[in-house]
This record gives sequence, structure tokens and C-alpha cells, in this order.
Amino acid sequence: MGIQIAPSILSADFANLESEIQRIHGADLVHVDVMDNHFVPNLTLGLPVVEAILQRTELPVDCHLMIEDPDRWAPAYAEAGAHNVTFHAEAAAAPIRLAREIRGQGARAGVGLKPATPVEPFEDLLAEIDMLLVMTVEPGFGGQRFLDICLPKIRRAREMVSKSGLDVWIQIDGGVSKDTIERCADAGADVFVAGSAVYGADDAAAAVEELRRLASEAADPGS
Ligand code: DX5
Ligand code: ZN
Repeated sequence: MGIQIAPSILSADFANLESEIQRIHGADLVHVDVMDNHFVPNLTLGLPVVEAILQRTELPVDCHLMIEDPDRWAPAYAEAGAHNVTFHAEAAAAPIRLAREIRGQGARAGVGLKPATPVEPFEDLLAEIDMLLVMTVEPGFGGQRFLDICLPKIRRAREMVSKSGLDVWIQIDGGVSKDTIERCADAGADVFVAGSAVYGADDAAAAVEELRRLASEAADPGS
């Protein structure tokens, strides 16, 4: 699939989501952060807002569920038409069953890992999922500083996926900017979430293209 840039609307103007999503034309995905004030200490939006977004954009919608009990809530996001539905490993009671339900609804299934959650236990699950999300900040807020200590985990995730021969995307989320994206691409990430780095720019579409260029060059220095 190659490099993909997924701007996070967490840093957008929530009162004008339709026009804010138009600002990122040229992005590969629109990343929507669902937070329930339990799994993380912040509250954002839920299924009705995701349904409204789905009606107003052609971009594939990438739902990042930072919620407790995703076993109960996540399949509805897939049923609504989200392209990717990512639940957190730390919150899911039955991740294999849940990934199968999400796929059964026609969406790609993602598993998210907080910075302190190791990736190795998920090696045997790779055939059940379409994306591994390696968080590069503690989930909950935009605009946090990138955690360099997550880079070895991205590298190990890439080694696991390569060894498996499966087409599992490796997404990173948190503190991604023009200063940090190259390190992540070099470590093997291929889907890059960026909130403040895109929505904080005057020209959000140009910021997306700049991030894509930096990641592509770092992933394939010969290109
Ligand atoms: C944080 C969210 C992120 C957030 C990233 O928990 O999952 O998607 O929007 O924001 P930045 O890119 O500003 O770190
Ligand atoms: Zn996110």
C-alpha cells in the first residue's frame, strides 16, 4: 500500500468538521479519535458524529477507539461504514472475536498498543488483523511530545509483519511531525497519524504532502 497520511481531526475545529475535513484533501484517511473519558481521561465524540462524518466525506474513515468495552461498541463503527476500526489491546476482552466481527462488517480491523504494551504477544494474532497501531504518546490528547522510546517497538513490529508475509499496516499516532516522521518511517511504520502537525498548519493539505514526502524518502532512501 505504501506510505499513508491520516490527519487526526482531534486538532480540528469541532464546530466545523465538514470544512475542516475538506482542508485535508489529498490525505489517505481521516483519523477520528473516539474517547470515552474512561479508557483515557478525555471525552470526544461517538457513533452519531462518525456517521455524520461518513456522509460528508469521500475519504476513508479511520476510527481509533480509545474506549472501554470495545467488544460491545466497536462493531457498530464498522457497520456504519468506517474503513478501519482500531480498538485497544488493553481494553478488549476477546480481541480475536472482535477483530473477526469488525472484518465481518466489511471494515479493516486494527489493534492499538499503548506505549508500555509490548508487541510480541500479538505475533500470533497478525493473521486476524489488518493494522497494528503503535502509539507514540500516551493516548488521550493531541499535541503531546513524541516518545522516542517507541521506535524499537515499531522496528520489532515491522520485523514481525515482514516475517509473517501478511499485509498488515503499521500505524503510528502521537507527536508525528516533520521532525519525527522520518525516524518512524525508517523504523518501518507506513501509516502516519498527525493531528497538530496538520491542523496547526496554515495550509493543511501542503502539510500532508510534506509529511508524505519526508516519510517516503526515509522509507526508501534510494527513491
Ligand atoms: C491521541 C490521539 C491522536 C492525536 C494525535 O491520543 O490518538 O490521534 O490526535 O495528535 P498529535 O498528532 O497532535 O500528537
Ligand atoms: Zn488517534
